[in-house]
Amino acid sequence: MCEPRYFEVAYAINPWMDTGTPVDLPLARDQWLTLVEAYRGHGHTVETIAPVAGLPDMVFAANAALVMDGKVFGSSFHAPERQPEAAAYAQWFKEAGYDVHPSRSVCEGEGDLVPAGRYVLAGTGFRTHSSAHREAQEFFGRPVIGLDLVDPRFYHLDTALFDLGGAPDGGGGTDAGNIAYYPAAFSAGSREVLRHLYPDAVIATEEDALAFGLNSLSDGRHVFVAPQARGLIDDLAHRGYVPVPVDLSEFHKAGGGIKCCTQEIR
Ligand code: ARG
Repeated sequence: MCEPRYFEVAYAINPWMDTGTPVDLPLARDQWLTLVEAYRGHGHTVETIAPVAGLPDMVFAANAALVMDGKVFGSSFHAPERQPEAAAYAQWFKEAGYDVHPSRSVCEGEGDLVPAGRYVLAGTGFRTHSSAHREAQEFFGRPVIGLDLVDPRFYHLDTALFDLGGAPDGGGGTDAGNIAYYPAAFSAGSREVLRHLYPDAVIATEEDALAFGLNSLSDGRHVFVAPQARGLIDDLAHRGYVPVPVDLSEFHKAGGGIKCCTQEIR
């Protein structure tokens, strides 16, 4: 995770961003620390990367890579404003002892590549190119399922869908695991694919999706989720998950939430 020392809305590369909206930096910092403490309090280890001045979106660590089986598939950012983040994160991974395999195509890490069960769900349409999906499949040797995003408010897959977590063999799940998602963010064909793969998915409302409810992180039991996504929180609780609400409202101003701020090292 990357602390929001230099966080601001300095440019607009998604519909959430308005450069006229000031960010309350002390509040952003408190919210970010609350998330760090929530992870630690639930038994997760959190490591941090030093923020770099002039890279305000570096707080969205999820976009920097996809890490699975200890292998790092590094990002190649869509927006010129974010491209320098790739080198900063690659440096962190190298110092932590990982080899980084950089994507040759535009790819925004866990923003668009979401592991679920034995599969990787992969978004395209606004940021990550579908050629990066093929690269990721070759690199990880796991089936990559391409999904088309059609609503610019949900420009990254992780704004419209999250993995409910847990082992695919842990009962109740399939090879593809299980997910929560907002169907209208996807093309008709992709919706059909999701319906087929996830007959038991948690379906989110537009209201909960717009509250960044799908930008959540589940460890298979606890779901770190935006408190504004009330319907989703109820659904998750009914299914036996333990919702852990953490408010990242300052980060919503840049189009990100809990999951965006978190790079998972698998
Ligand atoms: N301002 C950032 C961008 O538009 C937000 C990224 C949010 N991250 C995410 N994983 N969806 O690139």
